[in-house]
Amino acid sequence: MNRRVRKAVLPVAGLGTRVLPGAKTTPKNMLNVFDRPILSYVIEEGRAAGIEHFVFIVGRGQGAIEDYFDAAPEIENALEAKGKADILAEVRRDLPKPGQMSFVRQMAPLGLGHAVWCARDIIGDEPFAVMLPDMLMAAEPAALAQAVSAHDQVGGNIIVVEPAPEGEAHKYGIVDLESQTGRLNRMRGMVEKPAPGTEPSNLFISGRYVLQPEIFPLLEKQGKGAGGEIQLTDAMAELMKVQPFHALEYEGVTYDCGDKIGLLRANVAFALRHPSLGADARAAISGLL
Ligand code: G1P
Repeated sequence: MNRRVRKAVLPVAGLGTRVLPGAKTTPKNMLNVFDRPILSYVIEEGRAAGIEHFVFIVGRGQGAIEDYFDAAPEIENALEAKGKADILAEVRRDLPKPGQMSFVRQMAPLGLGHAVWCARDIIGDEPFAVMLPDMLMAAEPAALAQAVSAHDQVGGNIIVVEPAPEGEAHKYGIVDLESQTGRLNRMRGMVEKPAPGTEPSNLFISGRYVLQPEIFPLLEKQGKGAGGEIQLTDAMAELMKVQPFHALEYEGVTYDCGDKIGLLRANVAFALRHPSLGADARAAISGLL
């Protein structure tokens, strides 16, 4: 029986360069997608995958994230007094139980590998998930739940992948498969931001992982890789020498909210799927075309 995945690491410290100026005073993952922040969707996905503890790797000026996941008595009391139970429920929907979230300062922007390494003490000695919150994934079952099921099935390390748009593979981490049958395939390599034309496949690492804790000592020793940053992909490539890795081509749609057009697409897509406002959203959007 493979050990249960209970904790997820969410690296959120990035500057949000591609979504400035919106991300100047609001942490980029707190930007709204229709009626709630990006992180609200990511937490919902994590909970659907059985995650019980979320570890945020934050930077300076990101206190809004902690505040969002804390009680807000002045707002909640006012809504209660006015009898606005529906809005109150929305305000409270993402609240954890006390003790179910941790916030760790990354202290220096040294790369994704360094961000994940910052969670080592809180994760301890158990398998864990990594969720890159820029990437919103609309999927049923939830994208991370698909990865956790794959982990239940084959154990080891799971990387969620999907085909990169034509000509864009060099912007991502790319996996190399032993052979391809179905959606879950054993890997034989991976490379972070390969030079154009040298990509081993068109399957890119799209932002959900299940990793074994043996990644941490490797991250500690990991030197700088692509872009001069400590790359998670490089440490995973090291771990693959001693542990199996499978790539899971998940079923769903990814929206890159770290990009203005990706964020716009997510806004439209999640507005259209909204349980009570979807029809009004559709009418409003069609009226613009
Ligand atoms: C990171 C990862 C990369 C992955 C990408 C997905 O890169 O290092 O492997 O494909 O996220 O968005 P970044 O976008 O931080 O350059």
